[in-house]
Amino acid sequence: MCLYFPKGFLWGGAVSANQVEGAYQEDGKGWSIQDVMPNGIKGKPTNTPTEDNMKLIGIDFYHRYKDDIKLFAEMGFKVFRTSIAWSRIFPKGDELEPNEAGLKFYDDLFDECLKYGIEPLVTISHYETPLHLAREYDGWVNRKLVGFYERYVRSIFTRYKDKVRYWLTFNEINSILEFPFMSGGINTPKEKLSKKDLYQAIHHELVASASAVKIGHDINPDFQIGCMVLSMPIYPLTPHPDDVIETMKKDHDNTFFADVHVRGSYPGYMKRYFKEEKIEIHFEPGDEEILKNTVDFISFSYYSSICETADPAKKHGGEGNLLTGIPNPYLNSSDWGWQIDPQGLRYTLNMLYDRYQKPLFIVENGLGAVDQLVVNEQGEKLVEDNYRIDYLKEHLIQVAEAIEDGVELIGYTTWGCIDLVSASTAQLKKRYGFIYVDRNDDGSGTLERYRKKSFHWYKEVIASNGQSLFIQK
Ligand code: BG6
Repeated sequence: MCLYFPKGFLWGGAVSANQVEGAYQEDGKGWSIQDVMPNGIKGKPTNTPTEDNMKLIGIDFYHRYKDDIKLFAEMGFKVFRTSIAWSRIFPKGDELEPNEAGLKFYDDLFDECLKYGIEPLVTISHYETPLHLAREYDGWVNRKLVGFYERYVRSIFTRYKDKVRYWLTFNEINSILEFPFMSGGINTPKEKLSKKDLYQAIHHELVASASAVKIGHDINPDFQIGCMVLSMPIYPLTPHPDDVIETMKKDHDNTFFADVHVRGSYPGYMKRYFKEEKIEIHFEPGDEEILKNTVDFISFSYYSSICETADPAKKHGGEGNLLTGIPNPYLNSSDWGWQIDPQGLRYTLNMLYDRYQKPLFIVENGLGAVDQLVVNEQGEKLVEDNYRIDYLKEHLIQVAEAIEDGVELIGYTTWGCIDLVSASTAQLKKRYGFIYVDRNDDGSGTLERYRKKSFHWYKEVIASNGQSLFIQK
């Protein structure tokens, strides 16, 4: 059977500001929480930025974005996902007026994309809350963050209303459950954070997200505003009904976020959870109404699947993207222990589409691996990343299967289309890109860019609108 990607499918790649830009205090930028996280999710944040933090320079995208976008255009990108660093626009987060130099940078960046017919897809908040909001207000635990965020989104929506159509409100919003500092700018250490405060912070983010949908649609009714969730299908470890129910409950922890974004109210299973845990969420007058501003589409990241069990003896964790679970005995893993499950992507697409009947957008998928830059006989420097090609190919075939299943999918952006600093480990050694960046974790390297084998492969995939995936070579 022949499988197809729809006409106009948005092929592209994704990054976030804090993982590529560098220039961490240029043109009036304030410090963000990432500037004090030299070890990613491991270890405690530092007081002030330290030199060992790879993100302070990143891959110097701030100064090299024109050349990088040219390379994306050479691959034929139709869409490029990046985020706006909130701390470039509002350096501390609570100012009344935006920083013009910050706004100008993204004006130029989006113009550069549009010059090549590349549609920008913009994450409004990608793990880079201004540090001041974390330290002074305890991040999203504080209701005031809703107002600061609204001021920020109003500024960027107004400024870029004719340049950007696709917006995502919060990157992987559900990751706040495991990483309250990185995801929600919550300064209180996780072990001291009460469930009540955590869920109050989540409520504030959900209100802010819905409010952004309203503000955006008022400014430009053509805006397409989506939520962004970390998706990881959870399989029962065995068919035992206890395992199935435990899996359902674990799944609810995460479906809660998209449920509110799409349905505009809290689901029954969360109301039960709050009752049993004696958690009272404070709703301000008008919150229920605001939540009814539901999203236009659902976007998600997908890297792997996990298992769940009710048996305490078998509850040992594995590695994975932020939300970890029990390893699946049938799957292999990446160099960083993330299990590889291409069929899980077809499953996720079907589950989300069956549940919501809303357009979907895969905005992250990819393989973090150690790459070797070698010199071939012609003296050309390159990376033979066949493992990355295999990973992406297997996932994309499952995407095509899901489209054949009837799923409405807007596009697909691979994560880290150019090598960048990892969010969880803060390493550059964990490479995802089609473009190799000469920078090492000890800070050495020229920052030169080199096309990998996967660069040429992806170019062909895009040019053939996916048909090259099905040609045996
Ligand atoms: C997602 C994030 O969690 O996964 C990205 O949205 C992140 O910021 C990506 O980089 C891959 O994770 P890591 O930890 O390998 O960088």
